[in-house]
Amino acid sequence: MPGPPHLLTLADLTVPQLKRLLNHSAHLKATAQPWLVPHGSLSFKRANALRLPSQSLFNKSVALLFSKRSTRTRIAAETGAALLGGRALFLGREDIQLGVNESPRDTARVIGGMCEGIFARVGDHSEVEELAKYSPVPVVNALSSLWHPTQILADLLTLHEHAHLFGAPPPSPEAPASAPKNTKHQPPKDPLAPLRPLTVAYVGDAANVLHDMLVTFPRLGHKLRVATPGGRDGKYAAPTAVWDRVVELECDKNDGIWWGADPKEAVRGADVVITDTWISMGQEAEAEQRLADFQGFQVTEELCREGGANPDWKFMHCLPRKKNEVDDEVFYGPRSLVFPEADNRKWTIMAVFDTVIGKWDLDGDRWTL
Ligand code: CP
Ligand code: NVA
Repeated sequence: MPGPPHLLTLADLTVPQLKRLLNHSAHLKATAQPWLVPHGSLSFKRANALRLPSQSLFNKSVALLFSKRSTRTRIAAETGAALLGGRALFLGREDIQLGVNESPRDTARVIGGMCEGIFARVGDHSEVEELAKYSPVPVVNALSSLWHPTQILADLLTLHEHAHLFGAPPPSPEAPASAPKNTKHQPPKDPLAPLRPLTVAYVGDAANVLHDMLVTFPRLGHKLRVATPGGRDGKYAAPTAVWDRVVELECDKNDGIWWGADPKEAVRGADVVITDTWISMGQEAEAEQRLADFQGFQVTEELCREGGANPDWKFMHCLPRKKNEVDDEVFYGPRSLVFPEADNRKWTIMAVFDTVIGKWDLDGDRWTL
């Protein structure tokens, strides 16, 4: 019998699987929070809140095996698991035997004997691979040195929700011009607003967040323009393990990725500008050198104006944020989508839990994704 499904990077998903997960996230959000109108203000239709989303985690537990800090990912996982009818057990590095008295292999087997899924935030990516190798239940990567898949799902959901800010997508060849209008009795098949192909600039450190963007955005039709100190072959290049996946998925083809050393060049024509901390968790000892290397990479109005970004460019950041990488004017300004992006961690993680953990059939090899 095949082993359980795992989700360690979005590179492991096909484009239809990615789209289904995003659609499912939007559907869960609409079901669980029907009283939220599109702009986030409260309406009075709270009775609808009694509608429950999928209860696929009923009587099930998900272990949150976190060896690093977390605000968003942890809260999303705990609240999302509860909405799916299950529970999440937070197991921080000080709480359990892992890493001190017990190996990842034994830990995975023991957790898998009592829980139906593992959501793991680790240091080196090999640690989550090791858990997945030996776990009898699905393992989902909650952030590793190489990848941050659930973050990029939230980013994509946020972009789709704000599709109207970027203008209309080209007409789909599959949709006949005379398609019948939806009525209120026919919920839309696809709750995700179509998004036109975007130019997305990433200015900053090549780390887990960028890596999952590299293997995803070009496959969904978006162009990525990346600037890191020294460019693609410099000190802040993508590790071979990441670039191999980029090449395997042909994300570097058809101008899918431009990668240079000049932030101004990277933001040229950008509809969206994204960055991340310059000092990821675990890199604190390199702080001084990194702050020096990244001079000139702060995202500001001036940088994007001089670089020739789309005048209506929007800003995104996975959070937590420091002022080094983006100033207050952009971060708290009207271009910023960072808080809707943070909110969407919940619905996308819920969709992953529902699909990969809740609906995985332990008696067979069925994976509904
Ligand atoms: N973006 C993100 O993963 O945030 P946390 O570290 O707070 O979970
Ligand atoms: N690159 C950052 C992301 C934090 C969500 C880190 O790994 O610390």
